[in-house]
Amino acid sequence: MAALGSPFDVDRIRSHFPALLEGAAHFDGPGGSQVPDTVATAIVETLTSAISNRGAVTPAERRADRVVVEARAAMGDLLNLDPAGIVFGRSATELTFHLARTLAKGWGPGDEVVVSRLDHDANIRPWVIAAEAAGATVRWVDFDPATGELPPDAVEAVVGERTRLVAVTAASNLIGTRPDIPAIADVVHSVGALLWVDGVHATAHVLTDVPASGADFWVCSPYKFLGPHHGVLGAAPSLLETLHPDKLLPSSDTVPERFELGTLPYELLAGTTAAVDFLADLALTDPSLSRRERLVTSFAALEEHEDALLATLEERLRAIPGLTAYSNAKRRTPTLLVTVEGHDPQELRAGLAARAVNAPAGHFYAWDCSHHLGLGATGGLRMGLAPYTNADDIERLASGLEEICGGRS
Ligand SMILES: Cc1ncc(COP(=O)(O)O)c(C=O)c1O
Repeated sequence: MAALGSPFDVDRIRSHFPALLEGAAHFDGPGGSQVPDTVATAIVETLTSAISNRGAVTPAERRADRVVVEARAAMGDLLNLDPAGIVFGRSATELTFHLARTLAKGWGPGDEVVVSRLDHDANIRPWVIAAEAAGATVRWVDFDPATGELPPDAVEAVVGERTRLVAVTAASNLIGTRPDIPAIADVVHSVGALLWVDGVHATAHVLTDVPASGADFWVCSPYKFLGPHHGVLGAAPSLLETLHPDKLLPSSDTVPERFELGTLPYELLAGTTAAVDFLADLALTDPSLSRRERLVTSFAALEEHEDALLATLEERLRAIPGLTAYSNAKRRTPTLLVTVEGHDPQELRAGLAARAVNAPAGHFYAWDCSHHLGLGATGGLRMGLAPYTNADDIERLASGLEEICGGRS
């Protein structure tokens, strides 16, 4: 075991991922990361222990209750929010549709909702559909396709006194751009609107602090950060108290349960707690520190690890003749989108797959983003780093692409 305070030990981390034994180099993390053994064990143990609906009478009821309470606490630590403001759902997409319908109950003709072309469609279509149903107007913010930047003044240019909500991503799942969310929050709040942030891609790479970000709502999906497949919404409980979603008559009207439709997936929630615990221990720190404190240290180490590998990868890729990189923003996640002249992205993907390098190609539901970049429905080759990425993976990806595309320039 590495000593306390040692740097990010990627070999130790990799030893917890049974999936890596299959031998592929995984650059498909932005679509969903691989899962550590501790997460899988938590899921299996929850499913194979006595479990019932939440309650206080039988051990099985108490176990279900404990699993939910622990998962809210874990996500509260990850997002730096009160656990009472953590809502669980099927996916980020489902939670966004659900809350869009709920928020739109208060909208009408003349009201405006702002969406961005940098976003995944999960943070566009729910707002467009809800606005249309309410008779409200949708306004669009563009990013600069050359730089990938979405500056706060682009948001300032479209908001006004009728703006009710602005929906924007904390990081693009296609090109990695991380807009300045605190500055955007200032703009949004200056006109009295709410800020909905899609944190699905960002939460896997940079430490999230929802209150510091200024976001009123933050959605994310544990399956992007080493956990299982479900979605999470975080907000201040006092804000959630003001909202009244469609719900069944006998179901709880307390916050956050008011927003949770049907029985929660207890086994997945146990997996999410294990994923947050795993993230907190990415860099071995003093175990007596709080989980939030360990998350702060571990995410700093993760960023350093991913940035170093990204720099090596970029240097190699940008030297490939005919390669265009679309990930150019100053602040971005370790997610690269490229095209190579004369090569269809699907051909690049297949060539890499033949070398056991998993890097998918397409638009990844960032539909407007891909079109705004001039890539239409074809998109590009996307390569994303994860905590388990190592130097050997980078070498396999870079040399694979060099071979497919005819070597270095
Ligand atoms: C940035 C971003 N937002 C939203 C989503 C949708 O997440 P979910 O699958 O939890 O609905 C994704 C999924 O890829 C994403 O990358």
